Amino acid sequence: MSAPIPDEISFDEFDDIRTPKNEASDFEKISQTVLSRRSFLGKGVAFGATAFVMGTTALSPAPASAASSRLKFEPVAANELDTITVPNEFDWHIVTTWGEPLWSKGVPFDQETRGTAASQELAVGDNADGMSLFQDGDKNILVSNNEYVNRSIIYGNRESKKPETADDVNKGMAGHGITVAEITQKDGKWGVVIDSPYNRRITANTPIEISGPARGHAMMKTAADPEGVLALGTWNNCGNGRTPWGTYLTCEENFNGYFSSSDENYKPKPEMKRYGIGNKDWGYAWATVDDRFDISKNPNEPNRFGYIVEFDPLNPKSTLKKRTALGRFKHENAELVVADNGQVVVYLGDDERGEFLYKFVTAGKFTEGGDNSNLLDDGTLFVAKFSDDMSGKWLPLTPETTGMSHAEISILTRQAASKVGATTMDRPEWVAVNPNKVEAYVALTNNKNRGKKPNAGGDETPVDGPNPRAGNHYGQIVRWRPANADHASDSFEWDLFVVAGNPTVHNDAYGGSKNINAENMFNSPDGLAFDASGLLWIQTDGNYSNEKDFAGMGNNQMLLADPETGEIKRFLVGPKECEITGFAWSADRKTVFIAVQHPGEKGNSHYPDGGMTVPRSTVIGISRKDGNSIS
Ligand code: FEO
Ligand code: CA
Ligand code: CA
Repeated sequence: MSAPIPDEISFDEFDDIRTPKNEASDFEKISQTVLSRRSFLGKGVAFGATAFVMGTTALSPAPASAASSRLKFEPVAANELDTITVPNEFDWHIVTTWGEPLWSKGVPFDQETRGTAASQELAVGDNADGMSLFQDGDKNILVSNNEYVNRSIIYGNRESKKPETADDVNKGMAGHGITVAEITQKDGKWGVVIDSPYNRRITANTPIEISGPARGHAMMKTAADPEGVLALGTWNNCGNGRTPWGTYLTCEENFNGYFSSSDENYKPKPEMKRYGIGNKDWGYAWATVDDRFDISKNPNEPNRFGYIVEFDPLNPKSTLKKRTALGRFKHENAELVVADNGQVVVYLGDDERGEFLYKFVTAGKFTEGGDNSNLLDDGTLFVAKFSDDMSGKWLPLTPETTGMSHAEISILTRQAASKVGATTMDRPEWVAVNPNKVEAYVALTNNKNRGKKPNAGGDETPVDGPNPRAGNHYGQIVRWRPANADHASDSFEWDLFVVAGNPTVHNDAYGGSKNINAENMFNSPDGLAFDASGLLWIQTDGNYSNEKDFAGMGNNQMLLADPETGEIKRFLVGPKECEITGFAWSADRKTVFIAVQHPGEKGNSHYPDGGMTVPRSTVIGISRKDGNSIS
């Protein structure tokens, strides 16, 4: 018997309730491992003296002095304010807000009802996440993911704080997906162009073609789509990517939380369990309006989600395509880089405790101005294996290495990666490629199971390599340099760019690496992106209790880092109970756009409108007061 599921819980908490910890966790043994590692992990000796962490190796020179710092702003202090804080020389403004209409036939957000299905379909979706800004002549088109809806907020008009009617459920479905909006600048502030022909909403019901190796496979066929070629909708769209041929990539992350079973005796298949699909959803109740979310009736429907989806944002009638060759897992973002020989490399993280880091390498080559429209359908998926000696390998997932067909590898990617012995990671979030150097970075946000519990496929999670701390609740950023300075090569060298921690509480590995101090400490790095000047922006989605192990860290935040020196400064603090996520830059580089997601997720924010208003996700623009470019 499983424990009852509380009304409002996080994804992690839900997982814990449904898949309780193994008893086998041998904490003694783990503590020993950590202790023995202190010689190279603890502060001082540890971070100062070995080749393990940035700031100490040939990969990274020592931190710069203040005078030569490239981070030219006064850092923002940690705080718990219910607003955005940026350095004095910067301003911020709201660009889009959940629930505000994109067309004049829509209605402004209703604070009382928090909208209806009909109003939400015509309005900006909820919980903005990854985004890109596209130009079409002098027009600017902002494409932003709408990851999910907070039930206690969107259904805050209901006593139960849950969807109570079919319209409630449909409103939730319409709050998911993607918002495409033309934006324009007036008096220095960007805002939506209502009724622009570019405006578009993509939701959990938008038809999307299934493309690549899984198209038409038996596991993709359902009663509604017997050919297995056309799925309905995309949801839990987390990070994003953009291609050099002008398309947008949206990444389906926690797609599993929307499926449930009307038959409580239904036994979810092992391949469902690996992906966290079970008889209970996370409270969205989508199966109450559409049987395709009922796994006892439509067991193949979940196989059609968990992909990278590509579309042309400048054509509001363009067809979206699920690029199944890039694998099925809890996709975070998709970071593209064109290798010297023209092959396109896409780095991909699977954000689940103990899952893997991937890259896809296209078979074909990118040609400027040529037809690149199906490049992402054909290529090889690789998964990362890290070694303790600071080297690593990209292991190909092929029929030869896995005993699975291309279609099976595309659909059951986690199982394929387990077969080749990939390294279980501390929840890979965004990957970012340095524009000035052949190297890439991945945020490993945290992993309380590290060293304590295997992943859902039974793969061990040893305390070693790029995942050096047991019960890791702070996270780290790993960096790698491909062999031969070639992103298409199959090996690399790696180090740790930063290990987050709290040096005011801990003086061991949990105090963080030497580029962490009382002024810049943070936990749970998530969003990562390089700007044009080669500085690395870091965003957090972590513990904002500001207590105990997290004392002094304040609300979730955004920091700026110099990859050459390892210097990190806090640039922004978000409002209460939010995360900061997503990046886009204006063409003139004078505005950076970011998303403020799930403010008040536990009921303690009135951002952005104040008073007693409903907390709402926004995309904001940040610019310099002096009007100069920001990056
Ligand atoms: Fe949607 Fe892994 O963050
Ligand atoms: Ca994220
Ligand atoms: Ca997140």
